[in-house]
This record gives sequence, structure tokens and C-alpha cells, in this order.
Amino acid sequence: MKTSRISGFYNMTLEERRAKLADAAGLTPEGLLPFSSGGLSPEAADHMIENVVGLHSLPLGIALNFMVNRRDVLVPMAIEEPSVVAGASFMAKLARAGGGFTATTTDPLMIGQMQVIHVTNLYEAKLKLYEHKAELLAEADSIDPVLKKFGGGARDLEVRVIEDSPIGGFLVVHLIYDVRDAMGANAVNTACERLAPKVEAITGGRVHLRILSNLADRRLARARCTIPVKELAFDHFSGEEVRDGIIAAYAFAAADPYRAATHNKGIMNGVDAVVIATGNDWRAIEAGAHAYAARSGRYTSLSTWGKDADGNLVGTLEMPMAVGIVGGATKVHPAAQAAVKLMGVKTANELAEIIVSVGLAQNMAALRALATEGIQRGHMSLHARQVAIAAGATGDLIEKVAAQMVAEKVVRIDRAEEILKGGVQG
Ligand code: MEV
Repeated sequence: MKTSRISGFYNMTLEERRAKLADAAGLTPEGLLPFSSGGLSPEAADHMIENVVGLHSLPLGIALNFMVNRRDVLVPMAIEEPSVVAGASFMAKLARAGGGFTATTTDPLMIGQMQVIHVTNLYEAKLKLYEHKAELLAEADSIDPVLKKFGGGARDLEVRVIEDSPIGGFLVVHLIYDVRDAMGANAVNTACERLAPKVEAITGGRVHLRILSNLADRRLARARCTIPVKELAFDHFSGEEVRDGIIAAYAFAAADPYRAATHNKGIMNGVDAVVIATGNDWRAIEAGAHAYAARSGRYTSLSTWGKDADGNLVGTLEMPMAVGIVGGATKVHPAAQAAVKLMGVKTANELAEIIVSVGLAQNMAALRALATEGIQRGHMSLHARQVAIAAGATGDLIEKVAAQMVAEKVVRIDRAEEILKGGVQG
């Protein structure tokens, strides 16, 4: 990757953008061809799910200006919502002035769960499982030679006792599995199914469910950024005002689940868009994020915002990030492969580090807007274009009708239709 800063990208045609993108990423234009068509053929789709009748498309945009761990990266985002890509790009630009995003990940450890019911003595069975831990891990470890070859495999076994439930007590066995560059669902589910007979023999109980947990709290991604306070100033807002406004907005999310849900949704606007662009399972990421946000027993913000000793704005985000770059749709979807290639990531952890950085940038974009001019102004012009299209505008008229509605501060389909009928002003 040469640079993630491409000036004038917004004003280029789609072809020009793709050419610029390939050049900036050091790729051949052919490498990005799947982006022009959506990538997936109906025939390939037919092999992915059942009862296929066609394809469903989303816009794919590129977030610019990102620097993650001192490396420039162009970030593909698949999303239907206006302002998200622009918001991420703008915040990445501000973050660059403070060194960009610094991100880390834990080892890619997934948790597989086994529910053991009909156990006579839960505590005795729990200790017996620990006594057989080495043997159980060795068995689980032998299941996936490919993962093993790449350094993955079974890492640990934990046993929890659920004392009381509608069916009485039962055990929950957690198999901790290093899935390396895979999302890991298949490896973990297979390992749990394979271990079940041994667990039954040891406990005298019956293994009921065998499935991974989406609360992937052993597979975390963390990002932080520092925004020099002077970078935050705009219009009549001083940098300090914007900074303190963002911190006050964060305080709201930290204290109130009703706000935290929306605050975290803003984070997920960025996270999901990259997760989808790379063919990953966004429902898994959503489930993990919100369960993690509620891990204290009270749902709260996934991010934090405060200031450093010099008064600069500091943001952090920590969340589960079960994404892969091998297997599943990441492997068979040509646009997902092109997305991974564009980012130049070689491991799932590197991908996770980019995604968590985009989540933090997106969060900042929303808080900055909310804490200053409000969210509607920024949304307005992009929204106006969609309304203009819905009213029947095409070609140059889209921009013109949208601009007039924004100027009039009336962005409604009836007004767009009127403008189209009456001729555009100016
Ligand atoms: C809209 O998609 C996302 C926001 O509501 C996030 C937030 O309120 O922080 C703007």
C-alpha cells in the first residue's frame, strides 16, 4: 500500500476511482474487477445457500485516510447508509494527525460450549473433567490437522456449574480453541461434537448442546487514537468545545443503556460494513459486540472517550472480533477476496485490527456530529440524493435536485417531485 490518502476521490467516476485505488494499493486493476460487478455469480451463489433465485447488492465504498499501526490502509465498506464512509474517512484524517490508530488483538481464541445434563454430582463431575483435561485437549487438538499446521488447536478447558435452572443443575464445558485465520465456527463446532462422547464417559451425564459461543471474549480487538485538540475545531466550534462535547456524549452512553444501544450501533456502522465487505459473518460480530457490552450485567458503551495530559481527545474501543480470512464466504466470494487483497492483510488479526479502528472512527464521527451541529446536517445532502433518485431524478438532475432541497432545508419526496416538474433553479 502506497497511501490511503487520495485527493479528489469523491469527484471521480467509478472507473477512475477503481484505477486510482488499484494504483494506491499497488494492485493491478484486474485485482479489483470483482468490485465493479459485485463479484458473486448467481451460479456461485447457488452453491452457498439454499433456494437461490438471484443476488442482492450493496454499495461498496472505500474509506480513505486510515493509518492503522503506522500502516496506511484503504478500507472497503459495504453499506447502504449514507454518511458512514465519509464519516469514517474524515475521522481517519483527523486521527492521522495524532499518529493514526494503534490496534492490538488477543490470540484468536474461540470458545466452544458443551452443555452436560443429567449429571448426578455436578462438583464431582467438574473435577473429573479437569483431571482428564490433558487427554481431552489432546483429542480436540488432533481434529483439525490444517489448523494445527498453522499453529492453531485446542488451548484450554474450563468447566462451569449452573446450579439452578428450569431443568435443574447442569455443567457447561468451555473448549478454548485457537482458530488462527479462520472465523472458527466450523473448527470449534466439530471439536465440541467430537469431544462429547468422552465428556459423557467422564461425567456420566449427557452432552446436549455442542456449539461455539458468539460471546468471543477471548478473541478481542482493541484500538485507540489520539486527536490533537486543535484538529477538532471547525466552523464556530473550538477544539476544546468539540472534545468536551464528545466526552459528554460518551458519558451519556456509559451511563444509559438506551443511549448505549445507539452509540454502539454507530460503532457497528463501521464494523459491520468492513465485516460484510470481507465476506464475514456480521450476525456473529453483532451478537458478540452487544453481549460484550452487557458483560458487567448492565449494557454500556463499547468505547471510551476522554482526554490526555495535553488536553487531546483520546478514544478507545475494545470488542470481540471473530473474523476470518480463510474459509466460508471469505474464500468463495470474489469481492470479499478483493477486499482482503486491497487491505493487504495477511492474518485474521490484522483484519480485526483494521475493523476495530474503523469502529472507533465511526463512533467519533457520530459523536462529533451529535455534539455539535447535530446529525441531520451531514446526512442531509446524501439523503437528499437518495430522495431525488426516489422521485425519479437521473443523471445530473440528481445532484441539482438534491442541492436545491438542501438549500431550501426541505428534503422530501414531494418537494423533489415538484422541483423535477417545475425545472431546477439556477
Ligand atoms: C446512525 O446510523 C448512527 C448514530 O445514531 C450513532 C450515534 O447516535 O452515536 C448517529
